[in-house]
Amino acid sequence: MITIVGSGKVGGEAALFTALRKLSDEILLLDVVQGLPQGEAMDLNHMLSEKGIDVNIRGSNDYSEMKNSDIVVVVAGSGRKPGMTRMDLLKINASIVKGVVENIKKYAKDSMIIPVTNPLDPMTYLTYKVSGFQKNRVFGMGGMLDLSRFVQFIHQATGFSRDSIRALVIGEHGENMLPLARYSTVSGIPLTSLLSKPKLDEIVQDTKQVAAKVIELKGATVHAPGNAISAIIEAVVRDTKQVIPVATYLDGEYSYSDVTIGVPAVIGKNGVEKIIELDLDSNEKELFKKGIESVKTAISGLEF
Ligand code: LAC
Repeated sequence: MITIVGSGKVGGEAALFTALRKLSDEILLLDVVQGLPQGEAMDLNHMLSEKGIDVNIRGSNDYSEMKNSDIVVVVAGSGRKPGMTRMDLLKINASIVKGVVENIKKYAKDSMIIPVTNPLDPMTYLTYKVSGFQKNRVFGMGGMLDLSRFVQFIHQATGFSRDSIRALVIGEHGENMLPLARYSTVSGIPLTSLLSKPKLDEIVQDTKQVAAKVIELKGATVHAPGNAISAIIEAVVRDTKQVIPVATYLDGEYSYSDVTIGVPAVIGKNGVEKIIELDLDSNEKELFKKGIESVKTAISGLEF
């Protein structure tokens, strides 16, 4: 069973895409708001009925119903308002996520946890520490979403099919995210040989800033995060061994320890099965370090 804690727009969208991908016979939507998960589940089940998809979605306000969950997605918490950074949500969301994870530890102790709540990297660290789960079973959804935006900007800049584009974004899911043009290709052709340096710099900046623009225009990001969550779930459920940037605990990788941040990882039935260490150049290392420092500062103020 797949549980999604937080039945707002992103949680509901994650349930929708997870059901359409047929990743579980049963999806549980949880929320503290009475009626919200139940209504969301009913609405989604009606959609699935028309499509003849026999995935059953339940809504509940009772954490104990997540027992036997294989995967628990944590979306609960506040989203940022226009003008806010993801890190501005640290204090308010840390207490929410801590409470959720304590319930996961109590009712779904054998599950894998996919944090989504922002600020993503510190929330993933908090989840790892509070749950006490092995590090391979806690991996945050951030880079998968960022790379989807990087692909869009590459698609717009080149006119080439999105399906031919393989892009990579690592580092903090935040102000210091690191879209890697050197490790992005179009059908194996290095992006750096297809676009000029000024254009690459432009789409890197666009990738970093576009979520805030969406929030300014429509109030929240919904479809892209919901889909990205389901794509990571699919890699686990189907044991695809896809290489996906996820926020995960570093224990010496990239020369850093006791911190969680977005790095390329092989995702399969055991969650994070291998962290891939890239050969970063001096500029990339400097930018990655900024993300590490930002996350370490944030987690230094957390109480477990
Ligand atoms: C975003 C949120 C999920 O990037 O951080 O859309």
